[in-house]
Amino acid sequence: MSLHDGAEPGGWGSAIDGALRQRIESHSFRQRRLVTPIDAAHVEIDGRRLTNFSSNDYLGLTHHPRVVSAFSHAAETCGVGAGAAALISGFTPAHASAERTIAGWKKCESAVLLSSGYAANLAAVQTLAAAGSIGGGAVAGDRSGGGAVRFLLDKLAHASLVDAVRSVAKPHGPVSYRVFPHNHLPKLARLLSEAPAGQLQVVISESIFSMDGDAADLAGLAELKRQHRFLLLLDEAHGTGVYGAGGAGLAAERGLGSLADVTVLTLSKAVGVAGGAICASARFCDAVVNFGRALIYSTNLPAAVAAGAVAAIGVMRDEPQRQQRVRQLAISARARLAAAGICLPPGDSPILPIPLPSESASLQAAVELESAGFLVTAIRPPTVPSGGSRLRITLSSEHTDSEVDALLAAVEQLQQPRSRGPAAGG
Ligand SMILES: Cc1ncc(COP(=O)(O)O)c(C=O)c1O
Repeated sequence: MSLHDGAEPGGWGSAIDGALRQRIESHSFRQRRLVTPIDAAHVEIDGRRLTNFSSNDYLGLTHHPRVVSAFSHAAETCGVGAGAAALISGFTPAHASAERTIAGWKKCESAVLLSSGYAANLAAVQTLAAAGSIGGGAVAGDRSGGGAVRFLLDKLAHASLVDAVRSVAKPHGPVSYRVFPHNHLPKLARLLSEAPAGQLQVVISESIFSMDGDAADLAGLAELKRQHRFLLLLDEAHGTGVYGAGGAGLAAERGLGSLADVTVLTLSKAVGVAGGAICASARFCDAVVNFGRALIYSTNLPAAVAAGAVAAIGVMRDEPQRQQRVRQLAISARARLAAAGICLPPGDSPILPIPLPSESASLQAAVELESAGFLVTAIRPPTVPSGGSRLRITLSSEHTDSEVDALLAAVEQLQQPRSRGPAAGG
């Protein structure tokens, strides 16, 4: 691939070229491709039909007739855009109804919609930082000199959580953060036990980790909560829909629905539409509306999307066979990969990371799979830690048995899958 020739004013074109060249040389240059959706599990690229194993549409709801019809009906009545931020004039009955539905589904007091899952994580962290620094933290006043709020972030937490925490933390400021090795609860316990008195501790984790597909130790976190004082922010982006009765999430499935103080979910993955939501106490949701800059200064998601989300949550309740199907596919695919000597991180999620030795090997593997008729994306640093290049396969209830069989046969034929799991980065 060649870089652009045109000179940019002020000479910054060469700086961009330098940065892009470095990406190209390290096999980590990224480009969007034109992908035409055919249905929930198939796409067309360059005139070829491919089975899509790289979408997070776990339950096939992007194309479900009930969801599409609720979305279209609301678009016809409310228009296709919200027109303003929720605090200005962008909050409609469709948004209010979606927030009530989500709160009931997640069994929490209240929910707030955001324009994306990324924005939901940003707003949740901004609110916690503001509450800690303006409101004085969990314990009134901060006499410790260690700052008012400290975020404790799992090493493999999603970029949206990392960006959110980095954007509120300042050296010597009231907000700081530490990263703990992935799922390493003993280390987390040590960090909690050395926290200065009066400093609010906020532990951040995902229920199902987006790139490794493994689960947080929710029971362990529950035990830790009995010993230490902290708030838990749990991102259920990939647990929602796939786990729990009616798709309420992994915490609900484990009987720990009230473990997280703040749960964030995306409406863009199993729910099949777009947007995000923060689920918490009514008081916290009020605080999001007051301190969550990602909500305050951004146009609300379209009402049609909110209506689509309500319909999708109804489908999850009425068609539990979708969840059962994708989970059964995940269990059998994982067993077959293990039998072929390809080790995945533990778990039963439909996210299957196939470890590869290098960025170029993962790109080559994606090309091989595409020529065999499958869209599977190569995931490379910096999305994953250095040394963690992989293919990330995601299964959907809409995949047929023969499509999954054919994909796995093609994966088994790949030249260089590593037999050990991807670097956890911890
Ligand atoms: C764990 C996790 N959280 C948050 C997000 C952001 O969600 P959205 O795509 O809706 O912005 C993602 C998306 O990839 C994710 O995987």
